[in-house]
Amino acid sequence: MPDRTDAVALLEEWVESEALRKHMYAVEAAVRHYAVKMGEDPDVWGLAGLLHDLDWEKFPQEHPHRAIPVLEERGYPAEVVRAVVAHAYPDRGDVAPESALERVLYACDELSGLVYACCLVRPSGIDDLKPRSVVKKLKDRSFAAGVHRDQVARGLELIGLERNEHIQNVIDGLRSVGEQLQIRGVDQAARS
Ligand SMILES: [Fe+2]
Ligand SMILES: [Fe+2]
Repeated sequence: MPDRTDAVALLEEWVESEALRKHMYAVEAAVRHYAVKMGEDPDVWGLAGLLHDLDWEKFPQEHPHRAIPVLEERGYPAEVVRAVVAHAYPDRGDVAPESALERVLYACDELSGLVYACCLVRPSGIDDLKPRSVVKKLKDRSFAAGVHRDQVARGLELIGLERNEHIQNVIDGLRSVGEQLQIRGVDQAARS
């Protein structure tokens, strides 16, 4: 089975955009955080988070189906490959998220984008970010308008947690890679 080093190499081969790379690292961190919480293998679950948008930059029309044979050829586990397929439900495929990994990936994808965007408009970044600030921005549809609110809502249903609890988990996941994502208070200070 390919490991994280292989997955990072694949990501860097396919994705040039720094923003998209950060998004993939962010989702990886959130999914890994859930894996640990749920007693699952973060090294396996993390691969799904890391690679879920592998073909988005090169083949936006075909995403995520162009990446699937690539992942299969390289020997990624079937549960990882299926999670990548299911994250695009329902707009880009009819495989609905069912397994725990599929639900978690789905629930973390768009929400990670929103949490990331919240960090960029706060002087302290993710350092003391609270769920209530994220909820405020979730309701303000003009903020980070590219974040699909309907997918956030569907993710919440799928993961079956209370909204603030899920948001807190995603914050905790992203905070663990805050330095790499450059969303800490010190990064904000450097920006201004
Ligand atoms: Fe995607
Ligand atoms: Fe994504």
